[in-house]
Amino acid sequence: MGQPAAGGQCTVVVGCQWGDEGKGKIVDVLAEGVNVVARYQGGANAGHTVHVGEVEFILHQIPSGILHSGKRCLLGNGVVLDLHQFVQEYDELRRRGVDLEGRVGVSHRAHLLLPYHRLLDRASEEGAEEKIGTTGRGIGPAYEDKAGRRGIRVADAIDEERFAELLERGAARAREKLQAMGGFDAEADAALDRALEESRDLRSRLLGLAVDVGLEVDLALARGERVLLEGAQGTALDLDHGTYPFVTSSNTTAAAAATGIGVGPTRIDAVLGVVKAYTTRVGNGPLPTGFDPEMDEHMRRLGGEFGATTGRPRRCGWFDAVLARYAARVNGLTGLAVTKLDVLDTLPEISICTGYRTPQGVAEEFPADTWGLESVEPILETHPGWESPTHGARSLDDLPPRARSYLDRIQELTRAPIRMVSVGSRRSQIIHVH
Ligand code: IMP
Repeated sequence: MGQPAAGGQCTVVVGCQWGDEGKGKIVDVLAEGVNVVARYQGGANAGHTVHVGEVEFILHQIPSGILHSGKRCLLGNGVVLDLHQFVQEYDELRRRGVDLEGRVGVSHRAHLLLPYHRLLDRASEEGAEEKIGTTGRGIGPAYEDKAGRRGIRVADAIDEERFAELLERGAARAREKLQAMGGFDAEADAALDRALEESRDLRSRLLGLAVDVGLEVDLALARGERVLLEGAQGTALDLDHGTYPFVTSSNTTAAAAATGIGVGPTRIDAVLGVVKAYTTRVGNGPLPTGFDPEMDEHMRRLGGEFGATTGRPRRCGWFDAVLARYAARVNGLTGLAVTKLDVLDTLPEISICTGYRTPQGVAEEFPADTWGLESVEPILETHPGWESPTHGARSLDDLPPRARSYLDRIQELTRAPIRMVSVGSRRSQIIHVH
């Protein structure tokens, strides 16, 4: 999977933990060998950090493939498109010299995430008894409107008058809710009005990029091209398969790539799962392998574990093989990419969680009971650390034997073959396993 095989090939790249696994880097590396990169869900809650040379790019909506010239980058119908953020990101990339001409397309069927969705997200988090710890980007409310059949799609912008009317209606509904939630004063109302006017003004830019993403991907595959479908967040944040309710509001898992792009599931040839060599989580909800405060702080510093979108500190823990094995099954992984192995380089001992001790006995499957998951005790298997640098390794043979055994154990417990190992933030710091 490191270098996709010849002929039309469609690979899904999916996060297998709580997001932030380093999918952006993996997609960036794989993008070299493909023609099209398309995102299938989520919105500007994602933050994909990519380093090209000395320059760091944080992409929230446009697929990481954009940093390879000539690759077509698409946003599928499953994405909620934050118009303002999208245009800002587009213009910023152009300002930094990325040639975008004819390279970005947005599905006519994608739903728009509008300024009032952000306000609703923040107000509902503030008022909630059980806070999810969202990114505050309006994701939940935008998907609620979609499921409630009152969302506004890209195609709704075709008719200018109708678009204005739909925005008006959406804003009126949001105002009512915001007023009922409290704290929505005249100033906030005026700011919302201004933001909506900007949304109206962005209409023609949006339409200039609108395409039939499903058709485009299907045709690309029929021509024998290679396509990457890029997931955001991770399996444990999936609306159905994650630690509900502490999840995002979309299906993040690989099957969602078909619906979120508009191709049949039989079009997908491979699913590459991405895991960090340890675990992190941002936002609320259980993290069974979480560290004590001191080790948590240490790992956060070693791994630079702060949210790319919100800057929030991420909680850290040992590699959770129960979750990874669950993710391998739910996503139907054909391969695994392990990232940030180098972050463990200085640790004298490294543990892997192989099961959960629960009041009912040992659980080897990831449980549906989120509240029960809060109190499980991880069964840890401790490995000696390799205590030497790995960031220069370009093949498995370059790795210290203990690092190799650690990877072997992850592969064995996860039951998915390791195809790539990332040992640093740069493009070149990657091991392809053949
Ligand atoms: P939302 O997607 O903003 O509604 O947030 C719901 C949950 O998903 C929160 O716990 C967020 O911290 C988490 N989340 C959303 N996007 C990401 C991401 O890209 N990386 C990691 N966590 C995320």
